[in-house]
Amino acid sequence: MQTTRKITDNIFYIGVSDKRLALFENLFPLDNGVSYNSYFINDEKTAVLDTVDRFVSDQYFENIQYLLQGKSLDYLIVHHMEPDHGANISRLMEYYPNMQVVGNVKIKQMMGQFFDCDLEGRFITVKEGDTLCLGQHTLSFIMAPMVHWPEVMMSYEQSQKILFTADAFGSFGAMEGIIFNDEADLGQNWVNEARRYYCNIVGKFGPQVQAALKKVSTLDVKIIAPLHGLIWRSNLEAFLEKYDLWSRYIPEEKGVLIAYASMYGNTENAANALANSLAEKGIKNLAVKDVSKVDISYLIALAFQYSHIVIASPTYNLNLYPKIEHFLVDMKALNLQNRTVGLIENSSWAPTVIKQATELLQSMKNMTIMEEQVVIKSALKDNRAIEAMATKIAQEIL
Ligand code: FEO
Repeated sequence: MQTTRKITDNIFYIGVSDKRLALFENLFPLDNGVSYNSYFINDEKTAVLDTVDRFVSDQYFENIQYLLQGKSLDYLIVHHMEPDHGANISRLMEYYPNMQVVGNVKIKQMMGQFFDCDLEGRFITVKEGDTLCLGQHTLSFIMAPMVHWPEVMMSYEQSQKILFTADAFGSFGAMEGIIFNDEADLGQNWVNEARRYYCNIVGKFGPQVQAALKKVSTLDVKIIAPLHGLIWRSNLEAFLEKYDLWSRYIPEEKGVLIAYASMYGNTENAANALANSLAEKGIKNLAVKDVSKVDISYLIALAFQYSHIVIASPTYNLNLYPKIEHFLVDMKALNLQNRTVGLIENSSWAPTVIKQATELLQSMKNMTIMEEQVVIKSALKDNRAIEAMATKIAQEIL
């Protein structure tokens, strides 16, 4: 049975969700699956916008077949070649031999890398500002390199004012009937999963996202249609504002992430003592996470969200605890900047945490390392250094 939904009279959602997939990119945990969004425009000419991951192909082809109602498929618009969206391009070309593929030069090049299909007479190359008229609908193309790969482009459908944004504005999570952000009260979860998606997948490329946002700001956009997760047709300003903050590496909120590692509970005790003191002082945006239990993608999202990060780590093999090191290295890889970081070091012999964490933090941009540090020998024996750190953080936040 087809699973399409109408967006406007002649533009349809034909995407498919996968709830069986445990790890997106075989890396990021999916608590409730992921959707691979694709769109269909029915006009004098018909067009499909992007394909889906190969694991959900059957439903996707059924959806296209259903909407075509015997018509031919004229165009496939490719915005992004990553296989979660591009996997079915060559199959679609086989099934619809008169269909032409529309994309930019880099998309054409990557198609040659991924597939063995003959593009002679079947590829229309577009560049910034080019348009494709389907009849009542016209798509104009906007290049968005490195949001998330170099070939990425967006398209803007002029009559309905829909912006097809590729990975930008995507979020984790399967579609469950609801495809629009205003169809249900989604609470905070949408922003959490949109943030986790952005920071981990696109977070490294803030300047390129800024360049794309600048282009988008010149358009009258009524609907944002990404390649993952909800379609946005209300409250667009709030979502755009979050993208602006995330891509400039500006904290969304004043708040504290305490990321700790603890083998036997002593470093955890220090993290909890700090959290208690911060809460007593009135700090409400407070997350205390065990790096051994919480996947790094959630820690990265919290690090992008909050202004302050406290790292609490035992010394391990004369180094940082491995999962703490991984977190710091990932923060650096994703270009995180402009945060204040407090350090709590624990060791029974040969302490190295403060030295090694400081070196890593100093290699990132505009990270302020707090002078108030906590040095523990095996177990926390008095609260003075914790209190001093909490007092300073509270002064900065409140
Ligand atoms: Fe959803 Fe960069 O692919």
